[in-house]
Amino acid sequence: MAKIIDGKEISANVKAQVKAEAEQLKAQGIEIGLAVVIVGNNPASRVYVNNKKKACEAVGFDSYEYALPEETTQAELLELVEKLNADDKVNGILVQLPLPKHIDENAIINAILPSKDVDAFHPENVGHIMIGDFSFLPCTPAGVMEMLKQTGIDVGGKNCVVIGRSNIVGKPMAMLLLHKNATVTICHSHTKNLAEVCSKADVLVAAVGKADFVTPDMIKEGAVVIDVGMNRRENGKLCGDVDYDACFEKAGYITPVPGGVGPMTIAMLMKNTLTAAKLKNNIK
Ligand code: GUN
Repeated sequence: MAKIIDGKEISANVKAQVKAEAEQLKAQGIEIGLAVVIVGNNPASRVYVNNKKKACEAVGFDSYEYALPEETTQAELLELVEKLNADDKVNGILVQLPLPKHIDENAIINAILPSKDVDAFHPENVGHIMIGDFSFLPCTPAGVMEMLKQTGIDVGGKNCVVIGRSNIVGKPMAMLLLHKNATVTICHSHTKNLAEVCSKADVLVAAVGKADFVTPDMIKEGAVVIDVGMNRRENGKLCGDVDYDACFEKAGYITPVPGGVGPMTIAMLMKNTLTAAKLKNNIK
C-alpha cells in the first residue's frame, strides 16, 4: 500500500519558510511584489491565477494582477511586459500560459527580464538550468524535487522515468533529476513499449495531460509515483494522469490530485519571487 506524499503539507512548510524570510526583508524596508498577467477567459487559468494571488497574500508579498481581454494584441502585451520589467515594485513577472493563439508565447517569454522570470521559462534561465548553475527553477519540477527531498527519497542512481517532454515540465524535470544523479528516461507519444519502460521505473513522473493514463501494469511494485497531471473528468471532478485508486496498492509512494504537485508549484513560485527580491537587493 502506498504512502501518500502530501503536497499541501510540504507546500505549507515551503511557504512558512518564504514568509519568515519575507518578514526579515520587510524589516529592512524591502517589499516583495509579483505581477501576474492573464489574457482572455480560460477558466483553468483563472483558478491558477487566483491561487497565485492568494499565496502572495499568505506569504506577505504584494501581488499586481493584470487581467487583459482575449483580443489583446501581442504588441500590447509586450508593452505591458516592458512596463513591468522597468517597475521597481515588481520583483517577479508571471504571464499565465496558455496565451490566446494570435500571440506568440515565445516572443512574450523572451521579453521578460531574466532576473524577473520567476517561471524560469526564459531561454537564458533554461540555459542556466541545463548547466546546473541557476537562480530560478521552473516551479512544477522544482516542486516535485522538494516533495522527494522532504519525503527523504534520494534519486541518486535510481531509474527515473518522466512521461511528457514539455518545456514547462517534462524537459526541466528530467534535468533536475539528472542533477541529482538519477538515470533518466523521457517517454512521449512516439515512445515504443511505453508501458514496459515505465514499469522499470523506481520513480515515475507523469506529466501527460490525460486522465488515468498511468495504470497499475505500468508501475513497478513499490515505485514512487508522482502525478503532475491536472485534468477534469466529465463530471467536472479534478484528477491527475495516474489512475490513483488502481495504483494505490502497488505503488510505494504516490501523490494525490488535488493536493499533490499543484500546491507545490505555487509554493515554488513564491520561493522564486523571494529569490528574485534577494538577488535584486544583493542578499544571499
Ligand atoms: N500554465 C500552466 N502552468 C503554468 C506555469 O507554471 N506558469 C505559467 N506562467 N503558466 C502556466
